[in-house]
Amino acid sequence: MDHHLSQRASTAQRSAIRELLALTEKPEIISFGGGLPAPETFPHEELADLAAELIRTQYAKVLQYGATEGSVTLRDEVVRWLAPQGVFVTREELLITTASQQGLDLLAKAFIDPGDVVFCGLPTYLGAIQAFRMFQTDLVGVPLEDDGMNLDRLEERIAETRKEGKRAKAVYVVPDFQNPSGITMSRAKRERLLDIARREDLLIFEDDPYGQLRFAGEPIPSICSLDTEGRVILLLTFSKVLAAGLRLAAIVARAPLMDPLVVAKQAADLCTSKLTQHLAAHYMKRCGLEQHLQTIRSVYRVKRDAMVAALERYMPQHEGISWTHPDGGLFLWVRLPEGLDTGEMFHRAIEHNVAYVTGSAFYVDGGGKNTMRLSYSVVTEEQIDEGIKRLAALVREELAKLGARQAVA
Ligand SMILES: Cc1ncc(COP(=O)(O)O)c(C=O)c1O
Repeated sequence: MDHHLSQRASTAQRSAIRELLALTEKPEIISFGGGLPAPETFPHEELADLAAELIRTQYAKVLQYGATEGSVTLRDEVVRWLAPQGVFVTREELLITTASQQGLDLLAKAFIDPGDVVFCGLPTYLGAIQAFRMFQTDLVGVPLEDDGMNLDRLEERIAETRKEGKRAKAVYVVPDFQNPSGITMSRAKRERLLDIARREDLLIFEDDPYGQLRFAGEPIPSICSLDTEGRVILLLTFSKVLAAGLRLAAIVARAPLMDPLVVAKQAADLCTSKLTQHLAAHYMKRCGLEQHLQTIRSVYRVKRDAMVAALERYMPQHEGISWTHPDGGLFLWVRLPEGLDTGEMFHRAIEHNVAYVTGSAFYVDGGGKNTMRLSYSVVTEEQIDEGIKRLAALVREELAKLGARQAVA
């Protein structure tokens, strides 16, 4: 029956992460693999009270269909939330989506024709790779540096794309505490990226689930807040700042770009759940997000500190081993010496009762074999210490094997 599949479905690949994470379910395994937010950051008591109240007193409204653009109450709360972040929008410039993953799908549907080129980081968020590839996007990778995408290389890739007669459409970036690397793009690079996009007439898809989860250093303005032309489309989500299970997010897009997104969403699901929209809106009205965010930030700060300390304590001091020091978010990125392959090591890691995500899953060019993503969000400080100890033991063994192979060669 395979011949019934659309071309799109027959070329789509299952998420490598999901396949690997299935192996990590045994209770003895300490997993740094999944990228889920910490459940202790969900304000469940407040949400439970609000849900009961809303369903009892406003059932005709919150259990009903709603406008595709999203409920006015929630959009107005988002408008108020964004202003102090320097993003000044009207209600009409917001589209509520069934979380950001739908936002990515809508971007691809609305703006990408098969073969169009979207530039993205090496590495980049796997869910974005999947969403764009579903629409036969030609994803072209650009290496990341400590302060974000290498923009000289981006300009080279754009020139090559044009020479090959392909259509360069957009740059996809996660500027704050990127998933998977934890890297943040500097302000200077954000400004230069806007200049490049202006000169080359590209859209910028700015995906920002983690910007509000900064627990160290100074905030950097979003690219959207620096944009004067409306060529940046910003994706925000409630998944990491309230609760992922609400499946709520917002797209910020200026007038000419908003319409096709609304039409695409209408075809996809008519509207996002009104119940969860009202839950989030009333939570924001009653409790405010800022106070809650302070709690979330301190939860992740403690865990990040524990992971960095454990890496410093246990990882072998060896040329080619390094890791990022994220100032926010949920992820940290480890680089091992060339010649080590975290994919090949994965089954041995499971034997050591520790798990990570192989870095190559986040590379659109097949690279990154010697890298891995570690998430500190759902593990305790004790698990972080023990898990990194196990990982370091594995790395030591693999280095010894690599040394032996090189000696024979
Ligand atoms: C960079 C990035 N974009 C989008 C998403 C999707 O988030 P959600 O669909 O929960 O809003 C994630 C989730 O981890 C992410 O890391």
